[in-house]
Amino acid sequence: MIKKAAAVLMAAAMAVSLTGCGSITSGKRIIRISHAQSETHPEHLGLLAFKEYVEERLGDKYEVQIFPNEILGSAQKAIELTQTGAIDFVVAGTANLETFADVYEIFSMPYLFDSEDVYKTVMEDSDYMEQVYESTDEAGFRVVTWYNAGTRNFYAKTPIRTPEDLKGKKIRVQQSPASVSMVNSFGAAAAPMGFGEVYTAIQQGVIDGAENNELALTNNKHGEVAKYYSYNKHQMVPDMLVANLKFLEGLSPEEYQIFKDAAALSTEVEMKEWDKSIEEAKKIATEDMGVEFIDVDVDAFKEKVLPLHEKMLNDNPKIRNFYKHIQTVNEQAKGEE
Ligand code: GCU
Repeated sequence: MIKKAAAVLMAAAMAVSLTGCGSITSGKRIIRISHAQSETHPEHLGLLAFKEYVEERLGDKYEVQIFPNEILGSAQKAIELTQTGAIDFVVAGTANLETFADVYEIFSMPYLFDSEDVYKTVMEDSDYMEQVYESTDEAGFRVVTWYNAGTRNFYAKTPIRTPEDLKGKKIRVQQSPASVSMVNSFGAAAAPMGFGEVYTAIQQGVIDGAENNELALTNNKHGEVAKYYSYNKHQMVPDMLVANLKFLEGLSPEEYQIFKDAAALSTEVEMKEWDKSIEEAKKIATEDMGVEFIDVDVDAFKEKVLPLHEKMLNDNPKIRNFYKHIQTVNEQAKGEE
C-alpha cells in the first residue's frame, strides 16, 4: 500500500515537473482526485458520476482518475498536493480545510445547525455558498461542491449516555484546533489524528473512542472495536470537493461549466446514496457487528459546549458573517414550525 502510494505520488510529481500543470499522457490531461473513503462509499459513487460526466463531454482532452482510501496520503497531505497542483482535486472534510482557510472553522462549531433541514438549506443555497467557496482563493484552492457527511456522534468501547460519561475518556478528533476545543469542552481528552489511524488506536487502547457518522462503523470497520454509538449529534460537517485554483482558472468558460455541472451531479448522486447507506450501515453495525445505538438527552450535551459559540466568534472574525447567515436560517425554520 505504502509502496503503491509512493509510486503514484512520484508519478504525479514527475508529471507536474515535466508539464508544470498536472500530467499529460497519450495526449490527454490526467485529472487526479484524492479521497479518504472506500470504493463503496457514497462519495466515491458521486465521483464516478463526475468522471463519467466530464469524460462524456471532454473525453478527448481529459481523463479523470480517482484515488480512494487515502492512497495519495491523508486528507492534510492531499490538500497540500491540491494546493501545489501536484493533484487537481481532493475531497476533504471542513475540519481538515480550516487550517488552510479560516472560514471553514465554522462547521466545527458544535450544535451550529438546529436540524438537518437547516443544514441542507444552507448548503444547497449555491449563491451564498459560492461566495464562501471563492473567499479562500488566496489559499490556492476553491471548493466546487459539497457532500453530505451526516451527523457526527460519539462512539466508544464503553457506553456514553450522559456528558459525564465522557469525563477522562480519550477521544480521537480530526486534526483541527476547533475540534480539539470542542471535545475538551465536553470534558473528554481530545486526541487529534488522521482518519486512517483511528481503528488501530481504538483497538490498541490508545484512545477510548472517536466521533463520526455511522459509516465509520462499517466502511472503516470501527464497529469491530467500538461497540457503543451515542446519538448526541454534536456536528454536521460537510465534505468538500476542492479544486486547485490554477486548474480551474486554466479552463475555458465552457469547460469550467462542464466541471461545475459534473460537480453538482456528483453531489446529487452522493446525497441519494448517503441516505441509503446510513440505513444499511445501522443494520450491519447492529446485526453483524453487535454495535448498540444509544439515544441520549441531546440538550444535556448541548449545554456543555454552547459557550464555545461566543469564544469561536471572538477568536475568528472570518466566520462571523456566515454564522449570522446560519442563525437567520435557524430562525426562519423555527418560524415555519
Ligand atoms: C468522515 C468524513 C471525512 C473525515 C473523517 C474523519 O469520514 O467524511 O471527511 O476526514 O470523517 O473523521 O477524519
